[in-house]
Amino acid sequence: VNIRQAVPEDLLAIQACNLACLPENYQMKYYFYHILSWPQLMFVAEDGKGRVVGYVLSKMEEESSAVHGHITSLAVLRPYRKMGLAKRLMQCAHAAMKETFEAEYASLHVRKSNEAAKHLYIKTLGYEIHDIEAKYYADAEDAYDMRCYIKKED
Ligand code: ACO
Repeated sequence: VNIRQAVPEDLLAIQACNLACLPENYQMKYYFYHILSWPQLMFVAEDGKGRVVGYVLSKMEEESSAVHGHITSLAVLRPYRKMGLAKRLMQCAHAAMKETFEAEYASLHVRKSNEAAKHLYIKTLGYEIHDIEAKYYADAEDAYDMRCYIKKED
């Protein structure tokens, strides 16, 4: 499985992967907004036949005092999980945030109950819980607001 920067032709497959994996879904215009604004920060995992089996959608937050990246959405199709793809997608996003935009850190939100994602973020990638956002999700589940300071080699 290969990881590469996404191109506009990938967006329908990225949206399909998102719909298959997560309850947080977006209109196509939101995917276009990401790829037009921060093309360096969207990556896909593709199988041997060129099918999208995972993605990371990320962006820069430039309004606040510290310039930082934000992981909007990450998912890997079930048959391709636990192969290290999410780790690789996240490392690509972190590296591009640092190299292209000089981001100091990346932030994200994750459901309190999402054990797989919490393991990836905290244990594998070194994210720390920065805050808790009560009832952040549409079904009223709380979110952890996490941050990871990006080292050069990431
Ligand atoms: N339970 C515990 N640990 C797990 C699980 C699990 N179900 N799945 C993966 N891990 C661990 C791995 O063992 C690995 O740990 P290690 O570094 O200690 O060896 C680490 O997490 C990274 O594993 P990867 O293989 O890179 O992760 P994977 O490609 O399987 O993808 C993901 C993880 C993205 C969370 C996947 O399970 C998924 O798509 N889930 C549904 C969508 C989702 O929850 N996305 C994240 C939402 S938060 C957001 O989008 C900002």
